[in-house]
Amino acid sequence: MPNPLPYKRVLLKMSGEVLMGDQEFGLDPVTVQRVASDIKDVRDTGIEVCVVVGAGNIFRGVSGAANGMDRTTADYMGMLGIAINALALQNALEQLGVPTRVQSALRMDAICEPYIRRKAMRHMEKGRVVIFSAGTGNPYFTSDTTAALRASEMDCDALFKATKVDGVYSADPKKDKNAERFGTISYMDVLTKDLKVMDATAISLARENNVPIVVFSILEDGNFKNVMAGEAACTVVSD
Ligand code: GTP
Repeated sequence: MPNPLPYKRVLLKMSGEVLMGDQEFGLDPVTVQRVASDIKDVRDTGIEVCVVVGAGNIFRGVSGAANGMDRTTADYMGMLGIAINALALQNALEQLGVPTRVQSALRMDAICEPYIRRKAMRHMEKGRVVIFSAGTGNPYFTSDTTAALRASEMDCDALFKATKVDGVYSADPKKDKNAERFGTISYMDVLTKDLKVMDATAISLARENNVPIVVFSILEDGNFKNVMAGEAACTVVSD
């Protein structure tokens, strides 16, 4: 099918919090299915899609460390949380008939492939959605940084950061009614204004590799594709 949208290959960064829906913890099956359906819509246009998930719905390395746990151990636990989310998303996508491959930065050979860059690219060329699991495989890195890294490695045209708000605001829109959403903003402004779009390592990596970051809300059905088509609000972070 011809691709009507201006992208060939994109990476979707999905926070763990999104996958828990209205729950306080864990996975909400309805939300996971809805997100999978959004991914399917984009993939069905012919765009190659890969996904990086977080684990905030299961375990956060940083808060584990804040509670006195060894940081490296806490981060590895976070990576295992990501693996749970990756398998849930794989299952949801395959129930919709979308072929997928999960590739893990930490070896878990019984349940998924190891991360191999060239194989991941080949999978995408064949129309498979590749889900990158276990972050970078290293402690001290976030899943946002993983997203910027994999988007760079995969030569993605853009990194789509799915959140619960429809872009980047000048202040917290829930607390400040004068807060304004940026249509576009530079990487440097995000860093110097400390806008908390993604952590500084992720922003720097995206900047060095010229990967635009599109921040959008995944709470509305079909928004992933709508944002790509310019039909939904978002903020584009680029130079
Ligand atoms: P191509 O044949 O190259 O198009 O890709 P493919 O992924 O279909 O081929 P492959 O023979 O590599 O994999 C067949 C199935 O085995 C796929 O579902 C893979 O995800 C799975 N698979 C491949 N390597 C591993 C691995 O190391 N661990 C696990 N658990 N599954 C794997």
